[in-house]
Amino acid sequence: MKLVFLGPPGAGKGTLAAKAVELLQIPHISTGAIFRTAIANKTPLGLKVKEIIDAGRLVDDETTIALVRERLAEADAQKGYILDGFPRTIAQAEALEGFSKIDRVVNFDIPDAAVIERLSGRRVCKNCGANYHILFSKPKKDGICDLCGGELYTRDDDKPEAIQKRLEVYRAQTAPLIDYYRKKGLLVDVDARPAVDQVITNFRQALKV
Ligand code: AP5
Repeated sequence: MKLVFLGPPGAGKGTLAAKAVELLQIPHISTGAIFRTAIANKTPLGLKVKEIIDAGRLVDDETTIALVRERLAEADAQKGYILDGFPRTIAQAEALEGFSKIDRVVNFDIPDAAVIERLSGRRVCKNCGANYHILFSKPKKDGICDLCGGELYTRDDDKPEAIQKRLEVYRAQTAPLIDYYRKKGLLVDVDARPAVDQVITNFRQALKV
């Protein structure tokens, strides 16, 4: 199954994707995670995108499309994938049609207030990328990853000014994709407001998986 996860920053796309990967046995491909790895490794791509991402703006379409095209050509993505955070513009959606045929777009429905609460409390493992939340998904030991013992940190783009910018960018450039995919008959809405287990149930019911 070839899925796109669409929704505002902090809607829970990455959290649900981590669970859905086990259920569906397909890779989770997050453009944000690919960019963050490149930044951590100080690769040419990482150096190019760091400032843009920290400020909450979008990386240019050309760079992002080339990256996804290359990733989807890999062997593990042939039977299916969860594409998390791509496409984010109409131009990216049109480009995607040229190199892969998606089955469904899962639209994470959630109000801004919940997004702000989720992002401002998020903590991420520096080592393995696992996600936590200071209220909703606490690690067993403060500041330490349950899975690998790595240090937890706050993403630079989870600071208040960047969160506001990301929401603005989402409304202006990404939200139009909801109608775009609805008109194509590909959109499935999932209520992303409840706790994680209920969101998984909503997802399974919506997709019949
Ligand atoms: P990206 O990493 O894709 O960021 P995002 O879309 O802003 O999404 P997030 O990772 O912030 O949130 P999420 O929805 O995955 O939520 P999560 O599960 O972590 O992109 C980062 C940047 O890269 C972009 O701003 C842009 O600059 C660049 N970029 C990426 N793709 C691009 C593209 N296609 N084009 C151009 N630029 C691109 O959950 C959030 C928190 O809430 C966590 O703490 C979690 O524990 C908690 N939580 C999750 N679900 C629940 C729940 N049900 N109840 C309570 N808490 C919950």
